[in-house]
Amino acid sequence: MSEVRYRSVKKAVFPVAGLGTRFLPATKDVPKEMMTLIDRPLIHHGVDEAVASGCTQIMFVTGQGKESIRRYFEPSEELVAALRERGKDDLAEKVDGIHKLAEFHYAYQQKPLGLGHAVLCAEEFCKGEFFGLILPDDVMAAKPTVLRQLEAVAEKYDSSVLCVEKVAESEVSRYGIVAAEEVEEGVYRVKGLVEKPRPADAPSNLAIMGRYLLSPSIFGCLKRIKRGAGGEYQLTDALSLLLEEEPLYALLYNGSRLDCGVKEGWIKATVVKALEDPKLRKIVIKAVKESGALL
Ligand code: G1P
Repeated sequence: MSEVRYRSVKKAVFPVAGLGTRFLPATKDVPKEMMTLIDRPLIHHGVDEAVASGCTQIMFVTGQGKESIRRYFEPSEELVAALRERGKDDLAEKVDGIHKLAEFHYAYQQKPLGLGHAVLCAEEFCKGEFFGLILPDDVMAAKPTVLRQLEAVAEKYDSSVLCVEKVAESEVSRYGIVAAEEVEEGVYRVKGLVEKPRPADAPSNLAIMGRYLLSPSIFGCLKRIKRGAGGEYQLTDALSLLLEEEPLYALLYNGSRLDCGVKEGWIKATVVKALEDPKLRKIVIKAVKESGALL
């Protein structure tokens, strides 16, 4: 058993070193995390969620070509001053608010060796504390935030908690899948995990989504894993080792997910987010009507 007991989570880790190959050529020079979803880069949506969940310190595990993420979260005094000079105080506040969202930290992942390897790069930052792990491709619409929902389970069971969703059989090979026993409605005690199984080998249809609340014991496990599915160091394999030391729970979260990891999902996310905004809603509906598409 870990010595570290659960305390409310203040730190969030964002792995952002991926190459964004599914979005090439758009991601040739612009990191996927910096591409715009409605009015902000994708990564800003994830950071807002972490902040709304009570996190005050954020670690980006970056890689080659991701310098613009750091620049985005740094103060931009010249731009703010220029906006103020022009009387655009609202915009100045908006821009100046970005670096004040949290304390930002950076680790560099030399090579994209997998999610497990990326998380291990954040060991020093987490300094023996429970932490939130946010995969920004999954944009979550949930109240309270998914991280807050995971916290409620972590507090009750004093354990790490994974966020899961039920997926179709044809989808299981895209995700980490858990074997689990339901202990209360929507809360599962995890018994085993497998990364991206073939449908025939999947122990259930409970798929891990991009929010985790992890005990610091995960780092010891990450150091012991070997390359797994896809030749990468898989977080799921480290979670299997963690299970031998500590209890692990999964929560069927309450809310919905927009999968910005694939083009189709990004387009859907743009439409869904636009429809949520009263002004943009009108524009989208008008554009669809005018294009001759059926509504
Ligand atoms: C990663 C994890 C996988 C999880 C998924 C959620 O996979 O390895 O277990 O289900 O994130 O998005 P990736 O999407 O990086 O291939």
